[in-house]
Amino acid sequence: MNNTKIWLSSPHMGGSEQTFVDEAFATNWVAPLGPHVNGFEQDLEQYLGEGMHVAALSSGTAALHLALIILGVKSGDEVICQSMTFSASANPIVYQGATPIFVDSELETWNMCPIYLEEAIKARLAKGKKPKAIIAVHLYGMPFKADEIIAIAKRYEIPLIEDSAEALGSTYKGKKCGTFGDISILSFNGNKIITTSGGGALATKERSTKEKAIFLATQARDKAPHYQHSSIGYNYRLSNICAGIGRAQMQVLDDHVQLRRNMNQFYSDLFMDWEGVSVFTEPSSAFYSNHWLSCIRMDEALSGLNSEKIRLHLEKNNIESRPLWKPMHLQPVFKEALYYGASVSEGLFATGLCLPSGSNLTLEEKQRIRVAFKQLV
Ligand SMILES: Cc1ncc(COP(=O)(O)O)c(C=O)c1O
Repeated sequence: MNNTKIWLSSPHMGGSEQTFVDEAFATNWVAPLGPHVNGFEQDLEQYLGEGMHVAALSSGTAALHLALIILGVKSGDEVICQSMTFSASANPIVYQGATPIFVDSELETWNMCPIYLEEAIKARLAKGKKPKAIIAVHLYGMPFKADEIIAIAKRYEIPLIEDSAEALGSTYKGKKCGTFGDISILSFNGNKIITTSGGGALATKERSTKEKAIFLATQARDKAPHYQHSSIGYNYRLSNICAGIGRAQMQVLDDHVQLRRNMNQFYSDLFMDWEGVSVFTEPSSAFYSNHWLSCIRMDEALSGLNSEKIRLHLEKNNIESRPLWKPMHLQPVFKEALYYGASVSEGLFATGLCLPSGSNLTLEEKQRIRVAFKQLV
């Protein structure tokens, strides 16, 4: 049997990417602007619906940074952020000289716990510090408890930034992820459900917010024939070549969602009779995950296995797997940060594992994964 590496999540081209890229070259739109950039934004706006306006940017991290700037986050401010996430959710808070306040997860979606969120807000208000924004994340494509989180954000009048980097194609109560925040962000990094090699987007219901994002992303040039600047700008726009890849990827997004959901079903079937192993799936029909990554949790007492043992065994078989995101409040770089919650995210990190989830995994690769797991029984 072929023993090439099976990746967690690798780029999956749909077929027409090269045509869009060739067109960019043929028309000499080899720049961080051009018809593919506008077209990609329109595709995303149409896909998300809800009257969304989208600015295509160089990364999801750039989108988060601009979201914080647009919401007026400055040095000395506090921003609440889900602890269980990738560091890119939190780093832009520090770019602004602000302080992250981390909040624990709940066990159903692994995302920000509404109870701990409210506890954190009350505690900060009691100290005279009103958080400037809340960053909630749809981890691994699983929508967070949007009704509860939005209700709290509204009650305390704190803007919500929806980190939907991993959740394009997921829905909550029938509405697309990427439409729930005052500002939402998407990522098209190489490992995401669709990719532009690198890229991201900021999504908003306000046209003026989109315009502000594009203004800041293109060096904040005032309207003048010469170069004039009244504010600090950034070089965060998406290139026309990458946007061309994105346009082609949008044609296959729905297929990718279905294929990743099939991978989740594959693991549900594989572990059906395996005591002490649970596959991460939706807690109710309100949640529809793109299952960007399929994850499992181990109860070592029941299964006799822990996530590290499995990871090393898969590695020996040239199959990539990875522990869940290490919570931000446990990261050395954030060791001074405040944290509200208990040990939910720590428990998830200790017992969970992300498994190969790509929409491009072949039958043979699935068989290799199946065989590798059977060897552990
Ligand atoms: C939850 C989360 N937020 C933000 C990002 C940042 O996106 P990008 O890599 O496009 O900067 C990523 C992915 O990389 C992510 O997984």
